[in-house]
Amino acid sequence: MSNDTLWYKDAVFYQVYVRAFRDSNSDGHGDLRGLTQKLDYIQRLGVDCLWLMPIYPSPLKDDGYDISNFYNIAETFGTVDDFKTLIQDAHRRGIRIIMDLVLNHTSDQHPWFQASRADKNSPYRGYYVWSDTDRKYTDARIIFLDTEPSNWTWDEQAGQFYWHRFYASQPDLNYDNPAVQEEMINVARFWLDLGIDGFRADAVPYLFEREGTNCENLPETHAYLKKLRVFVDANYPGRILLCEANQWPEDVRPYFGDGDEFHMGFHFPIMPRIFMALKKGLADDMVGILNRTPSIPENCQWCIFLRNHDELTLEMVTEEERQWMWGQYAPEPRMKLNLGIRRRLAPLLDNDRRKIELAYSILFTLPGSPIVYYGDEIGMGDNIWLHDRNGVRMPMQWDAGPTSGFSEADLKSWYSPLTNDEVFGPSQVNVESQVNCPESLWHTIRHMIAIRKKYQCFGRGEFEWVDVRTNAIAAYQRKYKNEILLAIHNLGDSPVDVNTEQDAVDILSGEDLPHGTLTLAPLQYRWLLSRSDG
Ligand code: GLC
Repeated sequence: MSNDTLWYKDAVFYQVYVRAFRDSNSDGHGDLRGLTQKLDYIQRLGVDCLWLMPIYPSPLKDDGYDISNFYNIAETFGTVDDFKTLIQDAHRRGIRIIMDLVLNHTSDQHPWFQASRADKNSPYRGYYVWSDTDRKYTDARIIFLDTEPSNWTWDEQAGQFYWHRFYASQPDLNYDNPAVQEEMINVARFWLDLGIDGFRADAVPYLFEREGTNCENLPETHAYLKKLRVFVDANYPGRILLCEANQWPEDVRPYFGDGDEFHMGFHFPIMPRIFMALKKGLADDMVGILNRTPSIPENCQWCIFLRNHDELTLEMVTEEERQWMWGQYAPEPRMKLNLGIRRRLAPLLDNDRRKIELAYSILFTLPGSPIVYYGDEIGMGDNIWLHDRNGVRMPMQWDAGPTSGFSEADLKSWYSPLTNDEVFGPSQVNVESQVNCPESLWHTIRHMIAIRKKYQCFGRGEFEWVDVRTNAIAAYQRKYKNEILLAIHNLGDSPVDVNTEQDAVDILSGEDLPHGTLTLAPLQYRWLLSRSDG
């Protein structure tokens, strides 16, 4: 494992939903041992760091983001010892692991909340945000619009309302209480002591509430997050904090502070604009958002993604853009969820290999560290008819067999059905056949990752748009030390001639390309490394 403390700037991340990955004990749920068994696969893909979605005990009202004990692992996933083994085995292969740290809320089944609601005089009463009225903080938006009528829920037992930004079963912690602030640092300590390499900090904009504000991104929130960073740096140098703040670039910028808050932050707004660009055949939306993205401190990094475990969020677009995206990518009403779209990458892109590759090429060449969502490297499908976001969290398809190599349990006890889709079912889409076929999507992705890892300009280079006189082309330069890379993508459906000024080598194909006119076929992409200085 590289001991560069800036390792995350060059890393390729892979997001794993443990329940979906591999079931080692035939109970129908993926688990930590199952994931450990599959580390060879992850290593072959070239991944540097895993992000594990929550593995804590949970009543699963929000698939584990509702935590009932921060200091243990859900039984179905295994034990703390299994987790230690996973960490060791991953580290031995040079793979790091970060996990979700859910700071904002707990499950309503958490003993803190149980004590809080049961007794006004309990020290835990002040762990949550209680009120006699539900007319406070009315400027805060509702996030789970399809299900939650309010951010306040009446609790019969407590005789008061409690505050929650997500499901009513996820009461928000009260960060005005110093005891809560300390508790959550202790939680971080527990997992860092086990050897994990950092956290994806969930839903951080909402930690504090203040009247007259939208209760997002408040100065108090930043102050607490900086304390968390001080704690991590002082005790665990080289470990990282990745920020989930679904916000506009200028509002995410403060989460990097002066390089003293988060190491990394997801770039939410670029994501839907990649999909806009692919559908319109025009780079304009991507250009617009990147041009309004402020620069970030040297020791910070964006994290970029195409899809994840949630709906494809359309929070960071205008109302008009949202309607357009829904029209294009969610033709069936059931595909919509809250302000987003519950579909996976391959079905969104019509399972068109060229579009999928083009999307990945953009992902791997834009500024930031890319993250690949499990299953998307083989182009898995979805099931929009499953509850909530479950349709994008289905079992990993390892082989063509009737159980897809995910579990030996009786199908009835599986946490989720497999897709039985003709196009996306395991007989058509699975790891085994793609690994065995050099022309597969998996090999293309693996190749892109391998090439990316040879050049630091991808992770660290400056970024500049290159004008090629047509906005059907997304062309940009990445420059780091003596590496100058031109990434060009033909988003349109006609061939385009591009004039290149320097002799280059296409580092994906190995082809030498003397300067001059280069024709890009529809949906073609190239990674051109300049030869000018050898
Ligand atoms: C984050 C997670 C999402 C979860 C929510 C509440 O947005 O990505 O899955 O439902 O936080 O914890």
